[in-house]
Parts: sequence; structure tokens; C-alpha cells
Amino acid sequence: MVDVDPTQIARALELLRAGDVVAIPTETVYGLAADATNPDAIKRIYDLKGRPPTNPLIAHVASIEVAERFAHVDDRARKIFECFAPGPISVVLPKRDGPKSIAPEATAGLPSVAIRIPKHPIALELLKKFDGPLAAPSANKSNHVSPTTAQHVRDEFGDRVFIIDGGPCSIGIESTVLDLTTSRARILRPGHVMRELIESTIGDVDTVDPSTDESIDQDQPALSPGMQKKHYAPTTPAYRFDRSQSEDALKKSERQSRAVIVFGNETIETNFDLTEDPTHAAHHFYDTLRRIDGEHFEVILIEIPPEGSEWLGLHDRIRRATQPIDALKSPAR
Ligand code: TXA
Ligand code: MG
Repeated sequence: MVDVDPTQIARALELLRAGDVVAIPTETVYGLAADATNPDAIKRIYDLKGRPPTNPLIAHVASIEVAERFAHVDDRARKIFECFAPGPISVVLPKRDGPKSIAPEATAGLPSVAIRIPKHPIALELLKKFDGPLAAPSANKSNHVSPTTAQHVRDEFGDRVFIIDGGPCSIGIESTVLDLTTSRARILRPGHVMRELIESTIGDVDTVDPSTDESIDQDQPALSPGMQKKHYAPTTPAYRFDRSQSEDALKKSERQSRAVIVFGNETIETNFDLTEDPTHAAHHFYDTLRRIDGEHFEVILIEIPPEGSEWLGLHDRIRRATQPIDALKSPAR
């Protein structure tokens, strides 16, 4: 965390109240924030990101009390917020309608809204002062790698958005998205708050896997929003391999300049070892991808991390950013 000049917060508030977009630090990734009740402000977010209007945004609020003004918070949701908020979890709840409700543009017209109370002190302070919901998707162009530093945001948008620099994000991957609009809770996006922890507070939870779930229609994101298979991808072609495929992956790519990311795999030579600690690996993952992407390698190879629920968030991000190693054709020379 870096100290922030209070005039920066004041400037951000001024812009947000005027319907502008501001990039803010959160503990997961940087967000592109705007007034969630203002349709024009929301439109600016979608335009900047080039995001399809069918993919809804997360509404960030300062407290459960503010959440209740914009969503129906039942006992189950209250328990989740009491245990994990402020923190890296977004909870999909029935949206509350009213004169100053969340704009339909922010939820892609859905009757539900994802609510998150972020933990980063700058985000929280801003939200308390704003006293309303801020829609904030990750501050990257649609389908690009999420930003975990202010410089990453600058690399995406130049000086088209005002950025509050709150230092590198501590967690490094996006929040867990938990759907509580169905009788059985479902994890739509795995993250730092793991399934076991959620189950210990509200009982059984399903995990929806976009790569295998046939009910997810890629052309109709509004059915199961945010579950498009490809996402978070670097521009350099990227392939994933499991440890047993290490030799094969290296052999196939031996004629190309390559970056190899592993997770504590000491059996092969590599330039980027994110270690076998899932917290450390998540913290550095996007930053590493972005650095590699800027260095003009021909291919990126990423090891599939170990099994275990604490790795699920990274498994998900890696699957979305890569193709299976079998898809790599070694170039003829
Ligand atoms: O950590 C985070 O959540 C970051 C920081 C900035 O807070 N934000 C973020 O936003 O990752 P975004 O827009 O990149 O991802 C939002 C996810 C998408 O997968 C979206 O489809 C899902 O949340 N989502 C939002 N509203 C939803 C809804 N009503 N129903 C189902 N999924 C929803
Ligand atoms: Mg995103």
C-alpha cells in the first residue's frame, strides 16, 4: 500500500459524481469505477473496455447497509458478508428496484446484481465518501490481462482515465463470484475465498466449470454471465501443460523463443517460477504475464498448477488464457 494524497481522493470523488470513470486500487485487481446508478457513466465503462453489453458489472459498496439499499440481502448473504467482507468475494443477489436503483445497463438487464465490499483502504474510503454503489470491472480492455498495478492501467488506457495509485494489489486475481439467487449456492468464478470456507458458513455450494458445463452457451452470456471460456489472455500465443507433459512441451517449442511459467516444478529449466505457494503465485501471476507479453516471446508455456482448492482460482485463469499444449504445432524449419 502506498500513501495517497487526500486531494487525489477528492478529485476522484468529483469525477465520479460528475459521471466520469476513475481507476481505483482494490485488493484483487485495479477496477474501472463509475456511478452504478448512472446509465451514462456505465456506458463510459463499457466503451472504454470494449466490453459486450451482455456481460454485467460488479457493484462495489462500503457496507452491508449500503448493499441493502440496492439488493435483497437474505440471511445467507448476510452470513457471507459478515464472514468475508470487506474482502475478495462478490455475491450475486436479487436486485432491488426503486427510484435510485442500480442502472439496468450495469447488470446487462438482469434481475440480479453482484455486490462486493472491497478491503483495500483506498477503495473503502472512496466508497464511504461516495455513499453509493460504484460499478467496477477490472481496469483492462475486454479479454485482456487484468491489471494489478497503476502502471498496468496506464499501459491499457494511457491518460484517458484518472488513476489512483494504491500500490500493487495484494491478492492479484479477481474476486470469487458466488451466486445466491438459486436455492443451492453456486461459485461462478473461483477466487481467493475458497469453496470450503464458503461451505463452512452456508452449507453445500456447487462450482460451475465453464469449460465443461454444457449449459453455458457462449453466444448468450446473459444466461450465465462472465463465463465466456476465453478471457484474460495475453497477446502472445499461450499454451498450458501439466507436469507429466513438461518434456513434451519443451520439445515441441524448442525452435521458438519461449517463456515458461511453472509452479515449483524443479524438473525442468525455466525462466519464471511462481513457486508452489498459491498465494504468492496468484499475487504475481498477472504481473508476470504482462511482463512476458511485453518482451516479444513467440510462445508462452504455462504449467497447470498442483491440484487442491487453493489453486482453483489460478487453474481457472490459466485455462481461460491458454490453449492445451496439444494445439501447439512446432514450426517446420
Ligand atoms: O475482483 C474483482 O471482482 C474485480 C475488482 C475490480 O473488484 N472486478 C472484476 O470485475 O473482476 P469484472 O467485471 O472483470 O468481472 C465481473 C464478473 C464477471 O464474470 C460477471 O459476469 C460476473 O462478475 N457478474 C456480474 N454481475 C453478475 C450477475 N448479475 N450474475 C452473474 N454474474 C455476474
Ligand atoms: Mg475482468
